[in-house]
Amino acid sequence: MRIAMIGTGYVGLVSGVCFSDFGHEVVCVDKDPRKIEKLERGEVPIFEPGLDALMIKNVEAGRLSFTLDLASAVKQADAVFIAVGTPTRRGDGHADLTYVMAAAEEIAKAADRYIVIVTKSTVPVGTNAKVREVVAAANPDLEFDVASNPEFLREGAAIDDFMKPDRVVVGVETERAAQVMSDIYRPLYLRDFPIVTTDLESAEMIKYAANAFLAVKITFINEIAALCEKVGADVKQVSKGMGLDGRIGNKFLHAGPGYGGSCFPKDTKALARIGQEHASPMLITEAVIKINEDVKRRMIDKLLDLCGGSFNGKTVAVLGVTFKPNTDDMRDAPALTIVPALVGGGAKVRACDPQGRHEGEALLPGIGWFEDPYAAAEGADLLVILTEWNEFRALDLKRIAGAMTTARMADLRNVYSASDAEAAGFAAYDSIGRAGYGL
Ligand SMILES: NC(=O)c1ccc[n+]([C@@H]2O[C@H](COP(=O)([O-])OP(=O)(O)OC[C@H]3O[C@@H](n4cnc5c(N)ncnc54)[C@H](O)[C@@H]3O)[C@@H](O)[C@H]2O)c1
Repeated sequence: MRIAMIGTGYVGLVSGVCFSDFGHEVVCVDKDPRKIEKLERGEVPIFEPGLDALMIKNVEAGRLSFTLDLASAVKQADAVFIAVGTPTRRGDGHADLTYVMAAAEEIAKAADRYIVIVTKSTVPVGTNAKVREVVAAANPDLEFDVASNPEFLREGAAIDDFMKPDRVVVGVETERAAQVMSDIYRPLYLRDFPIVTTDLESAEMIKYAANAFLAVKITFINEIAALCEKVGADVKQVSKGMGLDGRIGNKFLHAGPGYGGSCFPKDTKALARIGQEHASPMLITEAVIKINEDVKRRMIDKLLDLCGGSFNGKTVAVLGVTFKPNTDDMRDAPALTIVPALVGGGAKVRACDPQGRHEGEALLPGIGWFEDPYAAAEGADLLVILTEWNEFRALDLKRIAGAMTTARMADLRNVYSASDAEAAGFAAYDSIGRAGYGL
C-alpha cells in the first residue's frame, strides 16, 4: 500500500514509521519546514525510545520519506491518514477541528483518483461525516471513502503499542474502504491482534470513551489517596489490593499529582462538551476534570506545608518535568502548574529531567537546569519528585540529603517510602496517600 501521513507529530511520525516497517510505502507530510528538514537529515524531532533506529532503517530501505508537499504525497497514495493536532478550543473545551478540516480540504484538492481518507486524530463523533462533506464539496468528482482509525499508542512505549496493540479500531462505511484498511493492517491481522471494525461514529466514540475511562481510574485512586491520608491507610497497599481483582486490574491505579499529557486533559474536556451539546451530560467525566484540577492544587499545598507555609526564599529541587517518563512531551504536565506556583511564591527552582529540558526551558522560565539529580539537590530546602523516570528511582538518598540545606522530600510519585527517607537522614517526607513525617 502507498500511504500519505498528513501531520508528522507524535502520532503521525510513529504511525508512519511503523506502517513503513510493515512494508508499506509511506510519505510523511508536515507543514513545519524545520521538522521536515530535521527528519530529512535523519534526526527525530521528539524523544521516543526506539523510534530513531526504526526510522533510519525504513528510510534506508526506501519505504519512508518526508515532505512539505502534501499534494504530491496525496497523488501517489492509496490511503491518506490525517494525524494533525486536535487541541482544546479556547473558551468552550471543544476539540478544535480547524487543522483536521483544513487538511481534509487540501487532500481533496490534490487527489485525482480513488483514495481512502483515514482520520487518526482524536475527533468528536460526527467529524468523519463532516470530513466526507468537506471533501465532496472541495472536489465533487473525486471517488473516495472516509474511515476512522483512532490511535491508542502511549508516548514512551509508542512503537510497542503500535506493533503489538491491544486492538485496532477501524470505522468504515463501505466494503472497499474496509478492504484497504485490512490490507494496511494485514501484518497485525495475520498475528491475531484484534481488529474491531465498526461504523464511523462508534469508532470515534471508542477513543473518547477509552481515554475518559482511564482518566476516571487515575482520578478515582487520587481521590482515594486523599482519603487514605485522612484515615491512616496506605494507598499503595490499597491499589495493590484493588488491582489484583481481575475485574479492576492494576493499570492506571497509581496515585500521583494528577493526570496530564497531550490526551487526557483535552479528551476529557471534549467528551464533556460533546455530552453537553447532545443534552446527555457526561457527569462522571465532568467530575473527573474538576477533581484533577483540585489534585494539582493539593500538591501545591503539600509543598507549602513542607516549606513551613511559604516558598519565599526557599530553594526547591524538582526531579522530572515531563508529564510522564520516557517522553520529552510537556503538554499539560503537572510541572506546568507546580513549578510556576513555586517560582511565583518566591522559590528558586533547580530542575533536572533526562529529556525535558529542551521543551521545559521555554515553558518554565526563570529556573535553573541541571544534568544530574545530585547537582540539582545541592543547597536545596526541598526535593520534589514529580516524574518517575528510572533515573530517579534508585537515588543515593543519603548523598542527596547530605547535599541539601534542609533535607525535606515531596515524593509525588510514591517512589520511596517514609522509612527510606528517614534512614537517609531526611528531616521531613511526604508522598501521596500515605503517612509522612516531620510536617
Ligand atoms: N500524542 C499522543 O500520545 C496521542 C495518542 C493518541 C492519539 N493522539 C491524537 O492524535 C492527534 C495528533 O496528536 P500529536 O500528539 O501527534 O500532535 P502533534 O501536535 O505532535 O502533531 C501534529 C502535527 O501536524 C502538523 N500539521 C497540522 N496541520 C497540518 C497540515 N494541514 N498539513 C501537514 N501537517 C500539518 C503540525 O505541524 C504537527 O507537526 C491528536 O488528535 C491527538 O489527540 C495523540
